[in-house]
Amino acid sequence: MSIIKIINFNVLGDERGSLVALESNKDIPFDIKRIYYIFGTQKDVARGFHAHKELKQVAVCISGRCKFIMDDGSKKQDVVMESPTQAILIDKMQWHEMHDFSEDCVLMVIASHHYDESDYIRDYNQFLSLIQKTKGK
Ligand code: TYD
Repeated sequence: MSIIKIINFNVLGDERGSLVALESNKDIPFDIKRIYYIFGTQKDVARGFHAHKELKQVAVCISGRCKFIMDDGSKKQDVVMESPTQAILIDKMQWHEMHDFSEDCVLMVIASHHYDESDYIRDYNQFLSLIQKTKGK
């Protein structure tokens, strides 16, 4: 089973161009509390390298492309995101890394909670041991 969950957005459009509208609990599977975006990332820079205890996020390259590596503690999969109409769901307890940003990449991230550093797991071994603990429950 794939651990990569892609969300295809509904595209509204006419002869003037395209439009995507995102609403809480409709297009985005949670209450939207925060939106941030990453841009101007240097070519050889990788970001992420963490998981979240509770936070859920939906990420979309509204311009350009980047590669996501998703890791649930037992499986690792990658996917290239390169469409403003297609997003990836970053569920809680999913280790994620972003690589190979194109120069024009604008990665928009929609989040279920306000920023909270205590929700981050930045140590991979700690991530693995927390996964083991939840599995044991
Ligand atoms: P971080 O989440 O580590 O970035 P990435 O996962 O892309 O590598 O965030 C980088 C810095 O920005 C870090 O100091 C925390 C801060 N930050 C906020 O203040 N608010 C936010 O909503 C986010 C996402 C980050």
